[in-house]
This record gives sequence, C-alpha cells and structure tokens, in this order.
Amino acid sequence: MKHFSLEYYEKSANYILKQIKEKPDIAIILGSALGSVADRLENRISVSYQDIPNMLQSTAPAHKGEFVFGNIGEKSVMVSSGRFHHYEGYSYEELAQPVRIMKLLGVNTLIVTNAAGAVNLDFSVGDIMLIEDQIKLNGHSPMRGSNLEEFGPRFFDCTHIFKPELLELARERAIALNLEDSLQQGVYYFCPGPNFETPAEIKAIRVLGGDAVGMSTVTETLTAAHCGIDVLGLSMITNMAAGITSDLQSGQDVIETGQKTADKVANLICDIVEHI
Ligand code: HPA
Repeated sequence: MKHFSLEYYEKSANYILKQIKEKPDIAIILGSALGSVADRLENRISVSYQDIPNMLQSTAPAHKGEFVFGNIGEKSVMVSSGRFHHYEGYSYEELAQPVRIMKLLGVNTLIVTNAAGAVNLDFSVGDIMLIEDQIKLNGHSPMRGSNLEEFGPRFFDCTHIFKPELLELARERAIALNLEDSLQQGVYYFCPGPNFETPAEIKAIRVLGGDAVGMSTVTETLTAAHCGIDVLGLSMITNMAAGITSDLQSGQDVIETGQKTADKVANLICDIVEHI
C-alpha cells in the first residue's frame, strides 16, 4: 500500500494558501444535491481540484470538483463541492486527503452532509437527521499505514466524533427555523456501495443500530477525529432504504429527491455556521 507523508499533504495545502486571502475556520463537505451551499458564500474564491497538486479528482454524479472559499456572515469558510467515495476506486487511506488538507489550512470545525436512506421506520423522506454517531464495519480505517504524528496519535479515541455541543446548536437552530417536524437524530451506517443494500442487509443494519445508511462521510469524520477537528454531521433522508416500501432504489431518485430538500438543508447549514 501507498504511505502518505506530511509533505504530500503540504504540497496541496501550500498551493491553496497562495490562492486565498483568508484562512478558513470552518469546512463544509457537501453531499449529493447540496452544491448550492457554495453559491451562498460571499467573497468567493474557487480552487479547482484539477489545479491542486496531488489532489484526488471527483467522478461521482452531481459532485463538482472544487473547493470554494469565502464568508458566511463573519465566518471564514471553505466548502468542498465534490467529495470522494470508496466506490469511485479510492482506497480508504486516500480518502483521508481532503480533511488533512483542511487541517493544514487551519480548519477547526467540519460540517459533513450527505444523502442517506432511512433505516429507521419512524423517518420520512425529506427529514434531516443530525448524526449522533456512526458505524463503519466495512473495510479498514483511513488511518491505516504509517502514522503521521503531526496529525494525531497512532490509536485515537472515537467516543465523541460528533461534538455534542455542535449537535445541540444544530438542534436549536433547526427549531428556530421551524424545521422541528422534519428533524431526526440517529446513527449513520456506512455501506461502501455503489450497489444499494439488499432488504436483508437493511434489516441487519437496523438490528445493529443504524438509523440511516449511506456511502460516504465516515472516512472524513474518522480523519477529523484523528487530527482533532470538531465535527457536525447532517444526513438528508432521500429515500426509505431497500425493502421498506415496494420502491426500487435509484441513484437518479436520490439526486432528484435531494434537490427538493436541499434548500432547507442549505438554509440550516448557513444559519448554524453563523451561530458557531
Ligand atoms: N443506501 C446507501 N446510500 C444512500 C442511500 C441508500 O439507501 N440513499 C442515499 N444514499
């Protein structure tokens, strides 16, 4: 396997630092259909992944390929528009890259968003789930391989990957925006995809404690836990998971349903950022 060095990540970060005016404090990784959050930044500067040395390249549908830097209110923010997934062919270790670059740019809070299927039968399409914890039993850790002490220790704690104070703030802000009826809280269960799950897998995931299922996010949050970045996670429920209704699963439906909820989620994210 390939071992990544501090210099490998610094090469990307140093290129970006030359393009931007202000270092970001908060990073937002956008899930499918949430690209509009990037358009809401003021004083925008976009840096294309194609121009960044060593940077992974986006291939997933409905994911652009750029970091957008700018302001939401007083806050200095970077948005990753175009995330990377294991199903694209990237190894778990490679998937540490975006968050390690964020760390080198000065980010101390990360907001991750995703589209997810509801496993919990009390959830509905269009709900927003605040992620309280995650389950990743598939594949290995993004921190496998030689440890880079500059980012964090070899063995690291994952008791509070999702910071309770940020979860509380997100709940308060969702209520302030009258989103209480569609607000849920639960555990995000990672499946690597690109296949959707089978109905039997969804039943197993429910027994294991998953409330929503998706193909992203967990490598980013583990990388953040390793290097000491606070994390808030939001899942946009785009479908009931396999076998719950008679509907078959479709990537196109996920994107289309996601687009219907995206404005609501984008408003909430911007409001949370202003209150961090
Ligand atoms: N399964 C996995 N990933 C997903 C789903 C799902 O049902 N919906 C959106 N992303």
